[in-house]
Order: sequence, then structure tokens, then C-alpha cells
Amino acid sequence: MSKIYDALRKAEQSKKKIGGKPKGNRRIPVKSISAGRAGTFLQNMDDDFRRSLRNLRNSIDTQIKNEDSRVIMFTSSVKGEGKTTITAFLARVIALGETDKVLLIDCAVDNPELHKLFGVDNEKGIIEYLSGRAKLEDIIHTIDENVMDLITSGQRDSSDVTQPLFNSALMANLIREVSQYYDYVLIDTSAALEAAETPIIGSYAEGTVIIIQAGKTKREVIKRAIMLIEKHKGTFLGTVLNRKKYYIPEFIYKRV
Ligand SMILES: Nc1ncnc2c1ncn2[C@@H]1O[C@H](COP(=O)(O)OP(=O)(O)OP(=O)(O)O)[C@@H](O)[C@H]1O
Ligand SMILES: [Mg+2]
Repeated sequence: MSKIYDALRKAEQSKKKIGGKPKGNRRIPVKSISAGRAGTFLQNMDDDFRRSLRNLRNSIDTQIKNEDSRVIMFTSSVKGEGKTTITAFLARVIALGETDKVLLIDCAVDNPELHKLFGVDNEKGIIEYLSGRAKLEDIIHTIDENVMDLITSGQRDSSDVTQPLFNSALMANLIREVSQYYDYVLIDTSAALEAAETPIIGSYAEGTVIIIQAGKTKREVIKRAIMLIEKHKGTFLGTVLNRKKYYIPEFIYKRV
């Protein structure tokens, strides 16, 4: 039996014993990485930005009824609207609370950035896992002990067709497994209208948040992205207006 299944079984047993979720204790053996850049990265967040991210988290919480599995995908209609920035900072804000465990997953395989932001290597990530070249425990980096982990994108080969990689039993398995250990699983992706795998990834999430760069993207384009997510059985939660005056993201529920 693999280490993960072993861990899962033990977690199930402890769940039965104490009647609670197994999320308090780390069960997946992970690669140990020093906190590195995480601290510096956090310092770039001013109070207003932090406050608006807390509001974003609250808005997400009120919409996700399944508290055991808050798997949220972040995307946008087109490139460069701030997906990675919002997702990474939101993860830091949740981790700051020190009560919930967060896993960030970099599914933006076209332009992966999270490993750079957090200063970890990207030798193996979700691509290797989905190609059967790595196990789950080989691709999880600890950013903050007990509160925040990261799965990087890994190395995309030019011959890798990403759509079938994500549309797979392995992807479903990964989401199912990590949901057992983390209170929040935040997934950064490529733009929904530009990457075929993004709407597929949305189908594994409890909900999808669409980042909009204020004043840039046309309403019709945003609507097309939402329709695409929903066509693939994803659940659209709402939009975040990013880079508004003072850089304050604002969550707007289903009003586009
Ligand atoms: N709220 C913000 N305040 C200041 N700068 C921001 C903000 N949001 C994004 N940026 C900057 O805008 C640029 C694009 O942001 P980011 O990389 O997060 O976008 P993205 O949607 O992930 O892009 P891609 O589609 O290429 O993955 C980055 O240089 C980032 O630092
Ligand atoms: Mg990005």
C-alpha cells in the first residue's frame, strides 16, 4: 500500500476515534523547504490589500457550503489580470490565521509563477504527477510548517497535451486526496478563454472565482469565460475586480 493510502487509512482511524477531521496533523510526507521568500513576499501586502483579501475569503466561505472541501479555482478571461497575485496573497492571508491549512496548486502550466514567488524549485509538479512520473508526496513543498503547502506546475514538455492530463482519474484522485488534508485548496490557472484545460480543472473545484482587471476586460468576454466554466460543470462563484484604485480587490457576487 502506498504511503498516502497508509496515511489516509490512519487518518480515517483517527477521525473515527476523535470524531473530527484529520486536517490538524500533517499526514502527507512532504518535501521540506525553508520558508525562504514567503516572509518577504508577505511584507509587500499593505493593510487595505490584506483587509480586502479577508473579505474575499469571507465571501468565498459564505458560498461554499461544503466546509470540508473548499477547493477553489481562480481564473480570468484573458492573460495578465492578476490571478496569480490574488491567489498567492489570499493563500498567505488564510495561512496567517494559523488555524486553517492551505494548499496552493499551480495549474497555470503555460506561465507558471508560484514557484518563483515562493522561491522553490519547479523540477517536479502537477505535470509529473498527472503523467505518472511523480507521486503526490514528491510534489508538495512546505512553505509554512503546518499552515501552507504548494504544488508547483512542474515541467511542461512541448509534446504534453494538457487537456487529457487534467481530464483524468489522476486529477480527480489528487483533488480528492488533498481535500482530506487541507481546509483550503486554491488553484491558480491559465486564462479560461486561452487554455483548454482551465474549464476542465474548474469541474473538479467546488467553485470558480474570475479575476477581472478593472477597466480592461469587456463584459461580453467575461460572460463567455463564465459560460465556458459552467458548460464544463464548474460552479461560478463570483468575480474579483483587481487593480482598482489603491489596488483593492473587490468581490462581486455573480454580477457581471
Ligand atoms: N492588485 C495588484 N496590485 C499591484 N500589482 C498587481 C496587482 N495584481 C496584479 N499585479 C501585477 O500585474 C502583473 C500581472 O499579474 P499576475 O501575474 O498576477 O496576472 P496573471 O493573471 O496571473 O497573469 P498570467 O495570465 O500571465 O498568468 C504582475 O506583474 C503583478 O505583480
Ligand atoms: Mg499567472
